Amino acid sequence: MIKLSLLGSITSTLGFNNSFAKALAMMPTPSETEGPFYPVKDQQDKDADLTQIEGHSGIAEGQHIIISGQITDVAGHPVEEAMLDIWQADANGRYRHPLDANPATLDANFQGWAIIRSDNNGIFRFKTVMPSAYPASKTWIRPPHIHFKISKSGYRPLTTQMYFPDQELNAKDLLFSNKSVAEQSVMIAKKISQQGNLPIYEYNIVLDLLRK
Ligand SMILES: [Fe+2]
Repeated sequence: MIKLSLLGSITSTLGFNNSFAKALAMMPTPSETEGPFYPVKDQQDKDADLTQIEGHSGIAEGQHIIISGQITDVAGHPVEEAMLDIWQADANGRYRHPLDANPATLDANFQGWAIIRSDNNGIFRFKTVMPSAYPASKTWIRPPHIHFKISKSGYRPLTTQMYFPDQELNAKDLLFSNKSVAEQSVMIAKKISQQGNLPIYEYNIVLDLLRK
């Protein structure tokens, strides 16, 4: 509360018309659990195109999408050269992880994991597939989501999950539904455009300073 009201007063002092939106833009991205499926087996190809594995002739199943956004600090300054560690389920809802008990078929052509960096303006971009929902327990279905770990020296390391708009399962999710309305609004990517049959989603990330 203190943080939000402080941000609110800073933004109104600076004369922004929509101080609440600005305050939201500068709220550090909420953290979320790493979950059980962080990759345990190294792989050669961890580039920004998860729809194709180097050396494979086939491409990943499902709806291919682009995720792009900017990493900033709480004052709105771009964070360059931040490392983004990204992993997710494939179009069948299956992780490339030995402990994933989901009987769904693993897509052998889906890369599943990427490590990329933000550019000089804090911008990052990757191509992937729309992850499917998957069972986390007998009574709990996780909505489609992408896991992120973001690190940059001087900033608090962030582990979080990105969600998609218009997913009925979001509201029922035991993790997502625990977040405040403000937190939920920044954890959901926005569909901003479409390149041919490739939807483009925007997901911006705000890092907090490292507190000693
Ligand atoms: Fe997950």
